[in-house]
Amino acid sequence: MSAQTSIPFDPTTPEQRANPFDVLELARREQPVFYARALGLWVVTRHEDVLTVLKDHRTFSSAGALKSSSTPHPPEVREVLAEGCPAMPYIIELDPPLHDRIRGLVARAFTPRRIDELAPRIEQIANELIDALAPRGRADIVDAFAWPLPLRVLGELFGFPSEDLERIHHWGNDWLLLQQERPVARQLEHARGLVELQRYCVAAVEERRRRPTDDLLGALVTANAGAEEPLTTEEVAGLPLDLMVAGHVTVTRAIGSTLFRTFSEPALRGHLLDPTLAPKAIEEILRLESPAQGLFRVTTREVELGGARLPEGARVMAHFASANRDACVFADPDAYQPERDDIGAHLAFGKGIHFCIGAPLGRLELRNALPLLLRRLPGLRRGADPPQREPVFFARGFTSLPVEWDV
Ligand code: HEM
Repeated sequence: MSAQTSIPFDPTTPEQRANPFDVLELARREQPVFYARALGLWVVTRHEDVLTVLKDHRTFSSAGALKSSSTPHPPEVREVLAEGCPAMPYIIELDPPLHDRIRGLVARAFTPRRIDELAPRIEQIANELIDALAPRGRADIVDAFAWPLPLRVLGELFGFPSEDLERIHHWGNDWLLLQQERPVARQLEHARGLVELQRYCVAAVEERRRRPTDDLLGALVTANAGAEEPLTTEEVAGLPLDLMVAGHVTVTRAIGSTLFRTFSEPALRGHLLDPTLAPKAIEEILRLESPAQGLFRVTTREVELGGARLPEGARVMAHFASANRDACVFADPDAYQPERDDIGAHLAFGKGIHFCIGAPLGRLELRNALPLLLRRLPGLRRGADPPQREPVFFARGFTSLPVEWDV
């Protein structure tokens, strides 16, 4: 099949940001792997093919997994980046063997026990945030809750002072936005933000080397010091950077998307308030909404996939959200059915060697925070102002979601 496409895929338009699903359904039916010329990307839409991409990391390299723009940064932006750590590796963008060494270190320090210990703190932080807003009767729930909750949880996990979190949040956004097409002036701003974040993380690693701590970063530094082949400071510092960003933007989006769905899916509210059903409801919303709609790979050789021939060096988008609505795997894929048997096949957390390392923490946060929010803000409903959708085209969520409740 030729690279010519008749699939009108453009997730940067407001229409497709609101509803990316119809065009993806058309693609799965007519041209399951197609070339999106405007984005310079081969988009992989069927569940089976997305799995092939995720499981074959030799053919589909993660180098540039977050980079959605094919245009290199202009020299003035590279100059700014050179002042930071331009070679800092991020686990999400690495291939083996470095990927496995870094992931192995995370596995030694980011243990199930450390995650379980966070449960009471998640509830406490959620309650503190709700205490502050409950009497108001209205809020932008993204600003007041969906951002600060996961950010504070991660801040505690890593031992970052709460007064630094706002800055980390903005620098993290700079890192993500730098991966997209942006005007040069904005790219310069984002590059400066990323450099600040890199320096902050390097300083935090060095500090823990001097004075060991019990937090996750301290545990990573200690485990690394005892490793047979220790990682460099920059290699370790890439971890808090990656985890702080990957771990809060996704949970923020999941909270916003789930709340938004309660406004149009009356059963969902009751399911979230029922402790036996809430985990299933959350999993089903992750399938339907897919906070990470897709991420990127680069082919290391020419390869055939889904009837298309991809050249070596092709940029590929593994479309998790499309795979998650593939009727070959999920019966009645667009319907919200929390009791479905096929839910275990969803790819909202990816698959293979890059499977989300924070999935247990993400689930714990959602299972604690969403029922609490609905219980403590009775009659939660859409506010008068329109919601604003996330600008990052490979993400799904809200940057603003005005809501009201009964006081
Ligand atoms: C609802 C919440 C979340 C969603 C939907 C989500 C989604 C994903 C997806 C789809 C991937 C696979 C990336 C790929 O294949 O290229 C991934 C990887 C990753 N996630 Fe999450 N994530 C969530 C929460 C978290 C949290 C809470 C953390 C950190 C505490 C986290 C840290 C990471 C990291 C570090 C990776 C890269 C792993 C690797 O490359 O080996 N995520 N996530």
